[in-house]
Amino acid sequence: MEKKKSDSKKDSNKKDDKKTTPAKKGKLKIEDENALKDFLIDELKDIYFAEHEIMKGLEKMKEGASSSKLKKAIESHHKQTEKHISRLEEAFELLDQKPAKKKCEAIIGILKEGDDVMEDTDEGTMTRDAAIIIASQKVEHYEIATYGSLAELARTIDRKDVAKLLESTLKEEKKTDVTLTVLAVDKINEQAAQEPAE
Ligand SMILES: [Fe+2]
Ligand SMILES: [Fe+2]
Repeated sequence: MEKKKSDSKKDSNKKDDKKTTPAKKGKLKIEDENALKDFLIDELKDIYFAEHEIMKGLEKMKEGASSSKLKKAIESHHKQTEKHISRLEEAFELLDQKPAKKKCEAIIGILKEGDDVMEDTDEGTMTRDAAIIIASQKVEHYEIATYGSLAELARTIDRKDVAKLLESTLKEEKKTDVTLTVLAVDKINEQAAQEPAE
């Protein structure tokens, strides 16, 4: 008699399992997809703000740099950043949104650190250039982390169009990071080591 009871309990559990199985197997439920889309838009506003701040930061870094190679690298990063801003505007459009900024404390902090190292190093020295490279690489790594995860998020909600835009920017950020590393290894760090310590 008892065995039958537990069997019927098992049966009812099976029924419950069926009920909770999402209709679209392997796909997100509509409410989850909408919540993720809202989150993606919010994060796009964050990086849209960040890219504008980076533009200003790069202008200061270019002024502070002494090596012509570094100045050139910063200049091309500046141009690239303009492109990143337009791509974000395209992404907003694809998502039927007006481009908007959301204050991003993280990038404010990273750029502030860049300002501080420039203040702490002497103008025209290779140590200043090394400090600028380190500061811009911190910016790049922030951008790489952001674009990498947002591209994934866009793919998760089946927005390949948005993901592709973000991936194009991601590729350029990675390239800039490599350029900065090569600059640091090649010249600047080496020369900074030859400057007399104060
Ligand atoms: Fe960027
Ligand atoms: Fe960048």
